[in-house]
This record gives sequence, C-alpha cells and structure tokens, in this order.
Amino acid sequence: MKRNIISVLDMKDDMPEIVDLAIRLKKERGHHGDPLKGKSLAMIFEKPSTRTRISFDVAMSELGGHPLYIEMSSTHMGGHNETVEDTARVLSRLVHGVMYRAYDYKVMDRIGDTATVPVISGLDNLEHPCQALADMMTIKEKKGGFRGKKFVYLGDGNNVCNSLLYACAIMGIDMVACCPAVRMPNAEIMLGAARLAEKNGCHISASHQPKEACQDADVLYTDTWVSMGDDTPVETAVRIFKDYQINQELLSLAKPDCIVMHCLPAHRGYEITDDVMDGPQSAVFDQAENRLHAQKAVLYTLLK
Ligand code: CP
Ligand code: NVA
Repeated sequence: MKRNIISVLDMKDDMPEIVDLAIRLKKERGHHGDPLKGKSLAMIFEKPSTRTRISFDVAMSELGGHPLYIEMSSTHMGGHNETVEDTARVLSRLVHGVMYRAYDYKVMDRIGDTATVPVISGLDNLEHPCQALADMMTIKEKKGGFRGKKFVYLGDGNNVCNSLLYACAIMGIDMVACCPAVRMPNAEIMLGAARLAEKNGCHISASHQPKEACQDADVLYTDTWVSMGDDTPVETAVRIFKDYQINQELLSLAKPDCIVMHCLPAHRGYEITDDVMDGPQSAVFDQAENRLHAQKAVLYTLLK
C-alpha cells in the first residue's frame, strides 16, 4: 500500500517513531549504506525553495537514491498542456516517489489521490508537514521531550502554523497560536488539532495577546508575515503583526532556557530581530539542518 505525507495527519500514528528515526539517521550520517539504491524521487516545485529542495536532494543522494529537480513551469502540466491527473499517472510509471510544492492544496490532493507512488508535500497553502516534522525533531533534541512543554507560535496563522498545530497535538505539546484575529490559523485545522490534543492529554489554545502568551514558554516560534502567494502589502503586514515580532522583550517573558525557532527564510527586523535570531537561544540553523535528517526519515519510511 502506498502512503502519502500531504498533511501532518498522515503521520498521526507514527510521528514519534519518524522523529526518532530522524535523530538516529543524523547520528549515522555517512554510514547509511544505500537503502534507496535504484529509487528515484521527482521533486516538483511551483514556488521557490532553498531548504526543501536542497535537503530532499541531499537526503535522497545520501540514501543511495536519485533525486530529480523539476520546475513545474517547465513541464507540460505547467504549460497547461497536460492534466494534473495524467501527469501523476505518468510520474507513477517513471519514479518511485513524488515530492511536490504547490500553491493550491487542491492540486496537491489531486496528485496524491491519482499517483500510485507516495506523494510528499514540500508545502502548499494549507500545510508544511515536513517542516513540522523537522521542528518536532529539533524540540526533542533541545528539550529532551514534549510533555508539559509550552510552545507559542507568534504571527501569521499560515501553512506552517497549521502543521504545527497538528504536530503539537500528536506529540503532546501544549501550543498557543498567538495570531491577530484577522490572521488566525485555518478554523477546521485548529478545531481538529484541539480535539486531537484533548484525546492526547495536551492543550491547544488561541491568543491575541503576545505578552501574555509568551509567559513561561519553552519554545517561541515564528514565520514570515507574508507567505509565498500572499499579496498582502508589506506595510499592511507590519501594521497587523508588529506586536507579534519575536524580540528581546517578548523573549524575556519566556523561561530562561526557552528556544527560538523559525522555519526560514527569515525577514530580519520584521517577524524576528537580529539579536534574537543570532542570540544564544536561537535554534533556527539547527532546525534548518534537521530538514535533511527528517527528510531522510520520511524517504526511508515511504520508499524503502
Ligand atoms: N522552510 C522552508 O521550507 O524553506 P524553503 O522555502 O527554502 O524550502
Ligand atoms: N509560510 C511560508 C513558509 C515558507 C517556507 C510560505 O508559505 O511562504
């Protein structure tokens, strides 16, 4: 049976195991053998990428497989000369897995439903599951575990925030989505994550009060105020989000050993200040490196 990872919910039953596998693969880097020898991964991007593209490429290579980077605009599907479904059918005859970065989650779902090989999301407008996986790995490394930890997401209730809601609910973290009322996370995801959290003995909540939310936090997390495909002008975003910037003042309200996370790319001086991003509590570059190890765990789980 083929398996997709398009939502964090696709890892509902084994996310802790995939995180542990990622941590093991990080320690074993350079000694993997060739578990994916003979396997190919088509990596198709509708939008730009630094981390996702490079980490999937290197992960596939270091596991002995073959990555193919494809810009969607250079395909017949991109030229609107072939349907999404026919493209998925053809890819399924040629490669062993597809990693896709989409503007629209509906396109992602159509590929996932039609392809007979595993489809992995490299981000769409609703979720970024592989980012959330690497983030959970980073929290485990830095904090030793998940239970009783307070995780505060500040800023835009976007794709990254949506995936983190599910991930925290699955892993047992207490998460506060601290976002302006006009930019809250997807309502269905928020509700689904809150229900999952309740069953799992943790708590998901919302706040519009950054100073209150950051009290005693173990992790502060932020992302860009304007995502790819979002046409909000920068001046509008600054007006909406300025109180949600992670700076020394907000960080001083959290626990002394609180870590700061950002999926990157960061817009220094907007959602995060230079001193916090480059300071001793910043985990952002470890987090970026962990994309590689987490991706290996995903590829190994789906393609081996
Ligand atoms: N965090 C992340 O997905 O970065 P890229 O857009 O560079 O892939
Ligand atoms: N929310 C951001 C994440 C980039 C990795 C975006 O979708 O542009």
